[in-house]
Amino acid sequence: MADTAVLLDGKETSKVLLEKVAREASQFAQGDLPKLVAVLVGHDPASEVYVARKMKVAAQLGLASELLRLPDSIETAQLQAEIQYLNQDPHTHAILVQLPLPKQIDTLAVLQTVAVEKDVDGFHPENLGKLLMGIEPVAMPCTPAGIIYLLDAYKIPMAGKRVAVVGRSIIVGKPITLMLTHRNATVTLCHSKTRDLDGILRESEMIIAAAGQPGLIQADAVQPGAVVVDVGINRLPSGRLVGDVDFEALKVKAGYMTPVPGGVGPMTIAMLMYNTLRLYQYQQGLKVERLLLV
Ligand code: GUN
Repeated sequence: MADTAVLLDGKETSKVLLEKVAREASQFAQGDLPKLVAVLVGHDPASEVYVARKMKVAAQLGLASELLRLPDSIETAQLQAEIQYLNQDPHTHAILVQLPLPKQIDTLAVLQTVAVEKDVDGFHPENLGKLLMGIEPVAMPCTPAGIIYLLDAYKIPMAGKRVAVVGRSIIVGKPITLMLTHRNATVTLCHSKTRDLDGILRESEMIIAAAGQPGLIQADAVQPGAVVVDVGINRLPSGRLVGDVDFEALKVKAGYMTPVPGGVGPMTIAMLMYNTLRLYQYQQGLKVERLLLV
């Protein structure tokens, strides 16, 4: 019987961060609470589920939250005007624009409209630019920050490791490449045009799979003992939720791996709550902890 991989339990690990946020937020209960506003354009079924979960967790922690629903047909300028209103609102501390946006919307223009100091996803160019420079912004992209937190919680070293990141999105692939580089990993950022992906994966001691393609990472392309982080959330025609990784085959080959669900997903939500708290502290002139680019 082969050894089985240690599962990186995001559900359990996220509790530590959530408790920290709840504890710190309780100090503000008498005054103006930290408030997260999520902007949801249209009715994408996956986005509906994610946003509902974010709103529920915020409420459980004692944060203020609001869901701003906007019609699928909205134009870029109108969406920007809604965001500018939130930028000006003194009771809104954190703004999240749920992605993806409908096709007619200029997503990059919208992400630049969110005020830097309320940018809870860390997608604004100033915040991503800081990350590039190795300066920890008040809020960093939630999924990659959650992954670094999870790796730290399991004391998995990153320094000197060969890491393959698969997927070059602003949400995950590019920012986690920067974070891992800052932690002294040697990162290869792979994408849909990468030649011989399996060859690169075989040379990697750690794989971050964030392509959104079920079955992309097969066991024969993974080193025994590798650390495999699965960011994919894919719904199969059967209704089953799977990641990008062949979980069953890999759990007897990898050293560590994240389950789907229960791995990266809960870490993303916990980091969003933590970012909301940090933005609030920053706006109130309070001390903001540096946690991840250490
Ligand atoms: N869509 C998928 N992941 C994310 C995320 O982390 N933030 C936002 N705003 N949208 C997403």
